[in-house]
This record gives sequence, structure tokens and C-alpha cells, in this order.
Amino acid sequence: MSQTKAKILVTGGAGYIGSHVVWALLKEGYEVIILDNLIYGHRDLVENILKVELVVGDIGDRSLLDNLFTQYSIDAVMHFAAFAYVGESIKYPHKYYRNNIAHTLILLEAMRNASVNKLVFSSTCATYGVAQSVPITEDHPQKPINPYGASKLMVERILEDFSRAYDLNYVCFRYFNAAGAHPDGLLGEDHTPEPHLIPLVLLTALGKREFISIFGTDYPTPDGTCIRDYLHVMDIAQAHLLGLEYLLDNGTSDIFNLGNGNGFSIQQVIDTALKVTKKPILVKESDRRLGDPPILVGSSEKARKILGWQPQYTTLEDILTHAWHWHKNRHQT
Ligand SMILES: NC(=O)c1ccc[n+]([C@@H]2O[C@H](COP(=O)([O-])OP(=O)(O)OC[C@H]3O[C@@H](n4cnc5c(N)ncnc54)[C@H](O)[C@@H]3O)[C@@H](O)[C@H]2O)c1
Repeated sequence: MSQTKAKILVTGGAGYIGSHVVWALLKEGYEVIILDNLIYGHRDLVENILKVELVVGDIGDRSLLDNLFTQYSIDAVMHFAAFAYVGESIKYPHKYYRNNIAHTLILLEAMRNASVNKLVFSSTCATYGVAQSVPITEDHPQKPINPYGASKLMVERILEDFSRAYDLNYVCFRYFNAAGAHPDGLLGEDHTPEPHLIPLVLLTALGKREFISIFGTDYPTPDGTCIRDYLHVMDIAQAHLLGLEYLLDNGTSDIFNLGNGNGFSIQQVIDTALKVTKKPILVKESDRRLGDPPILVGSSEKARKILGWQPQYTTLEDILTHAWHWHKNRHQT
């Protein structure tokens, strides 16, 4: 099978990370079909930028999936579709267990029925829970502390069992914090509500928000604010191409962290945003939030070694410059 002609079904391809991966797949000559229910995805980006077939529907709709797999001969599935708001998952866990686990199970059953046996899955560092040591490697204990992380961990377990019992080969990526945007400002992050620090800081610079909160300035870190691992979304996309190629070359199931390897503090993010945007950003300091660990940084050595992944955009300047370009295009009238 020629890799350049493989046909890939991308669930959640109208969302933030999925749309960047679709862009990278198209650039490499893959054929792509997006399945997205558009609860959080953006039709305009699919139609105007990606210009690829969009099936509007739910991964929990078995007859839709059966029709899709019959109509197109799909070689592999990349599965981004999920709910990903940690706070909401604590308030409404049923939503997360239904969408992220039960609906993923329906997708996996439909794949099995159609003999599609290659899957790239988006998992998360939230499956690790509280870090016992940093940088976090893939063999760090997985003890999620919220339903979102638990839902992704359960899918990891299902994949392991399906891989053992049936003919499924998968690559599971556990991402740290996805950030940044397409360098040309074509695609980027646009969540409603927006839970992530970098877009919140930039929306504040744009005057769309009044201020940005820092929760805790007395952590045992050099500047007292929490340190997180921000990974450029284009580097995530590159890792997905490599993961897909690995599967198309008959690689066996495996799990990889995807992180920058460098932690950046919240204060560093704000300082860099001030430099990049040259706009005032009002900051309000608040008390620590429950359950926020001081430092969360991942090791991606395994992805570098086995997949040959080499992240390109590892500085905060790159991440914020690209994200700023996107946010100005998207939100300024
Ligand atoms: N953004 C991050 O920092 C991050 C970190 C770790 C893991 N992840 C995981 O990566 C994946 C993508 O995250 P994102 O930030 O791009 O989220 P996103 O919300 O932008 O994209 C998810 C897409 O899936 C669609 N979707 C959700 N449920 C669906 C369903 N049942 N059927 C069809 N479509 C459905 C949404 O409409 C949306 O377009 C998610 O699985 C998330 O858990 C994200």
C-alpha cells in the first residue's frame, strides 16, 4: 500500500488539534475525511482552509459509522473527538464517560466490523494525575484525579485489550499542553469557553477579556508560579504523521508522551505575551487552586527515539507569536 494514498478518517478533525493534523496530512498527500459533530469544531475552517470532506455526525452513531466505512475504504483512523474540559468533567462526569468512553467503544466496534485495524488516539497527561517525579515518562503511575483523565485512561485500557484480543494496532499519544497555531495564522485555537492559559492571555491583550488570573504565586518554583509543558500544535501534528507512518509500516501498538520537554512558568508565558503583543495585559493574583501541582513536565524521549520525532517550535516566543497571529486574524474586527 502506498502511504501517500492512504485514506484517513479523522474524528474531531474540525477541532483545534485535529484541524492542524488534517492540514499536515493533506500536505503529505493523504486523503482525509473528517467526522465531527461540530459541538466544538469549526465548519468555516474545514470549508475555507482545509477544503476537505466533512461528515457532520457523532462517533456514537453506529449506523453512520458503518455507512462511512462501507462507502470509503479507510486505511486508518485518527481519533481526536472527545470532551476535554477538566472542570466540567468534575461537575458532569456522565458526559465524559459517555462521550469519551462509550462513544469511543462504538467507534472501535465499527472499526473492527469493517476490518480497519489502525488507530492513532489522543490521550493526555491528565491520566498521570499528581506527578511523583518529573519529567514524567510513559511508565509513571497513572492515577487520574478527575473524570476527564479517568475517561482517557479507560480508553487506553480498552485499546490495550482490543490490541491483545483482536487485530488492532494503535499509537496512543499522551499530550501535555497543546499550544500555538499554524505559523501563517490559518488555523488555531478557538474554544468556547476557553480553558487554556495562552489563548486567555492573548484574548486579554486583544481587549476581549478584562484580566488574566494567576492562581498562586508562592509555589516552590523560581518565580513562584506553576510550571507547565507547552507543546506547539504543529509539532503535535508532525508526531501524528510519524505515528501514522509507523502503523502503516506495520508497527505494533505503543504509547508515547508528547511534550516540549521544557517547562515554562505562568509568569514566563505572561512576560513573553507582553513582549510579543506589545499590549497591556492586566494580571490579577489569586490564591492557589486545589489540585494544581507546582510542576508538570513530560519526557518525550521515547517518541524522539522510536518515531524520530523532532519538535521544531520549542520556544515560548514561537508558540506565542504564532498564536498571536491567529488570534488577531480571528478576533479583531
Ligand atoms: N488541547 C490540549 O491541550 C489537549 C491535551 C491533551 C489531550 N487532548 C486531547 O486531544 C483531542 C483534541 O483536543 P482539542 O483541544 O483539539 O479539542 P477540540 O474540542 O478543539 O476538538 C475536539 C473535536 O471533537 C468534536 N467532537 C467531540 N465529541 C464528538 C463526538 N462524539 N462525535 C464527533 N465529534 C465530536 C468536537 O466538535 C471538536 O471539533 C481530545 O481528545 C483531547 O482530549 C487535548
